[in-house]
Amino acid sequence: MKLLAFLMQTGGHIAGWRHPRAADNALCDIDYFRHLGQTAERGLFDGVFLADYVGYHPVKGADVFSGMETPKLDPALVLSTIAACTRHVGLIGTASTTYSHPYDLARRFASLDHLSRGRAGWNIVTSTMENEAHNYGRPAHMEHGERYARAAEFVEVARKLWDSWQDGAVRADKASGRYTDPSRISAVNHVGAEFRVAGPLTVPRSPQGHPVLVQAGASATGQRFAASCAEVIFTSHPGIETAKTFRAAMHAHLAEFGRTPDTLKIMPAVTPVIGHTRAAAEALQRELDSLIPADIAIAKLGSLLGNIDLSACSPHEPLPPLPPSALEGQNSTRDRVLELAARERPPLAELARRVAAGRTGRTIVGTATDVADELAAWEAEGAADGFVIAAPFLPGGLEDFVDQVVPILQQRGLFRTAYEGKTLRENLGLARPVNRFEADPSLRQHPEIW
Ligand SMILES: Cc1cc2nc3c(=O)[nH]c(=O)nc-3n(C[C@H](O)[C@H](O)[C@H](O)COP(=O)(O)O)c2cc1C
Repeated sequence: MKLLAFLMQTGGHIAGWRHPRAADNALCDIDYFRHLGQTAERGLFDGVFLADYVGYHPVKGADVFSGMETPKLDPALVLSTIAACTRHVGLIGTASTTYSHPYDLARRFASLDHLSRGRAGWNIVTSTMENEAHNYGRPAHMEHGERYARAAEFVEVARKLWDSWQDGAVRADKASGRYTDPSRISAVNHVGAEFRVAGPLTVPRSPQGHPVLVQAGASATGQRFAASCAEVIFTSHPGIETAKTFRAAMHAHLAEFGRTPDTLKIMPAVTPVIGHTRAAAEALQRELDSLIPADIAIAKLGSLLGNIDLSACSPHEPLPPLPPSALEGQNSTRDRVLELAARERPPLAELARRVAAGRTGRTIVGTATDVADELAAWEAEGAADGFVIAAPFLPGGLEDFVDQVVPILQQRGLFRTAYEGKTLRENLGLARPVNRFEADPSLRQHPEIW
């Protein structure tokens, strides 16, 4: 089983940050991130993962309850501080193909790969928010298909740049006075619809060759893009059945690109709420839910139901019938909420808190054994290759997983007892990419000399 720790801002539960075992006001604190990285490494996690948005990201109806996505430091810088105080844990950071340039990005991740001795991963996103466009001088967010077309070319350029130095290009030979071997360095001279990049990179080929490529596209276009290049897919599912269908579909897509399932690890995000007994875990979940202010939960519920204003409704009464216009069209989240409301008829504030709480598709509430059982079942059923663990609050929730769930997975032979490889790629069981210029020397082009 592969495991990544989602260092998800204030945690996988919307109110996790208010819990007594959550760090206080730590989202800009170096010691907080060092502790999280070291905790994940103590648990032999394959890596830590940092999400990113290049803009202010209020969650509808919950913006005063921020901390959900902002404040947010630059992930590459945070990961390099974690690199400096760990030796094994992988370092996966998000960067946008819509709002960055392939030369900068290829350089940054190759640098992180060197500084961490082969532990870098890039979560490739095309970005989702209007505010990100406004921060980069665009009047509107680029259309979905256009974003993915740019992403495909972006990744192609980045890969060419990572190949622009072959292994052995740095000789640093004091005796002969030759620092580099120019026959092992190539220009890339990329000319495409979006980018013109001469290359080579300023950074020699890094320990992993390329950082591990991660993607989380959910749409048909996103899935196709992931099938073309991703080595890890993050996904979100409420249960085994949809996760299984998704994994089988992704494996089928891979064949279109001449790839086999062993080249891709599919990792759903889950939030474990762990107690020493089931009753204690349920009490913890109720405690966390009670920390969501009712008005914020109700506003979030209204937005999930399709932007319905519920502020005039009594928080103590069940959800009133929705206007017919709100029931039009397909909305699986809305239908799930309405089904829960009809079945249990909880007071509006309670319904809202339950619905607003989770930030990943699946929350597992139970003992460490219950959590291990469920993760094991997902794997055994072919629903996952591993998991992105989004602890409900940090660092306490991650510590509980490391101290209580990891030993059970190890006893069952489902999880490592020591790191088997030196790099993130090796630990994930992914091959080092072939260098295109080494594989086909006729592609090599001399860099422009000034
Ligand atoms: C676990 C997980 C983490 C994600 N992290 C980010 C992120 O950091 N930044 C971002 O812009 N989008 C993030 N996304 C959103 C995806 O990149 C993607 O936009 C979304 O799944 C919708 O799919 P689509 O792009 O194919 O429409 C994440 C999705 C998942 C499931």
